[in-house]
Amino acid sequence: MSDTFAAPARRRGISPQKLLQGSGVLWFIIAAIGQWMFVSYILGAYVPRTLGGNFERWNETGLLEGYVQNDALGNLGFISHVLLAAFVSAAGVIQLLPVIRRKFPAFHRWIGRAYISVAVFLAVGGILLIWVRGTRANDWAALGTTIDGLLILIAATFTLRHAMARRIDLHRRWAMRLFVVVSGVWFIRVAYMAWAIATGGAGMHRTMDGPTDILVPYLAFLVPLVVLEIYQKARDSRSVSFKLGVAGLIVVCCGITALGLFGAWMMMWSPNLQY
Ligand code: HEM
Repeated sequence: MSDTFAAPARRRGISPQKLLQGSGVLWFIIAAIGQWMFVSYILGAYVPRTLGGNFERWNETGLLEGYVQNDALGNLGFISHVLLAAFVSAAGVIQLLPVIRRKFPAFHRWIGRAYISVAVFLAVGGILLIWVRGTRANDWAALGTTIDGLLILIAATFTLRHAMARRIDLHRRWAMRLFVVVSGVWFIRVAYMAWAIATGGAGMHRTMDGPTDILVPYLAFLVPLVVLEIYQKARDSRSVSFKLGVAGLIVVCCGITALGLFGAWMMMWSPNLQY
């Protein structure tokens, strides 16, 4: 008898696979809103100051370096890095939308080429800003962001190669990894603010050399990469408990991401907008 009633109940209920995918979609919606908040910060903070010729006012956003007198090349490298960062942050979200890939494949290909080129430019430019221009709070934190930059180059290569060879499943997996590592600097801000709100700033120093300041640049790309791999494994797995456990994990990540975004918007981004 229990089987007779259990079967329709199973059909009516939401399957573990759907719950897992739903948790992924929820995280993506929060992240997409957060990436666009970051874009609006970049445009709102840097475009008016740049167009007004007030380059020294870039530094009002709390940069380590930024505008430096008599360093035209460094200043140009800095502002092109920042303005192109708005493009990757906006485009990454668009690229991962299934509807764009299905309905506008040519648009997906063109944005994809531009996204990969700009991501490579940002990674190489960022590494040069750190090690050639010398923009770093300390070597350990700088090394963390540098590793993220190198991972961008690796993930960009695989994403492009699999796309060109029409290995679509591998291309999709590498594109998600690329999205995560390109979002590494965004994750740093989100993680930093979530941690600051949750702990009152434990391990953070004004000089940016506390244990949290050094660990966050590493964890900001390592944790999302590991969570992404676990999510992919759970999607492929047949285990119900694994799928449900990972869905729960993703919901926790949604909460942390939303908390960090709230903090970043209130404390880092909105106070610097010029419009
Ligand atoms: C690929 C995605 C990236 C995005 C979206 C991005 C975004 C940004 C933004 C918005 C700024 C201005 C700082 C601010 O106003 O908060 C910035 C500065 C900077 N970025 Fe990136 N960046 C990316 C990649 C990288 C990488 C891979 C590195 C290093 C390997 C890097 C190194 C730097 C450095 C050194 C600065 C100057 C920071 C300062 O003067 O305080 N960036 N980036």
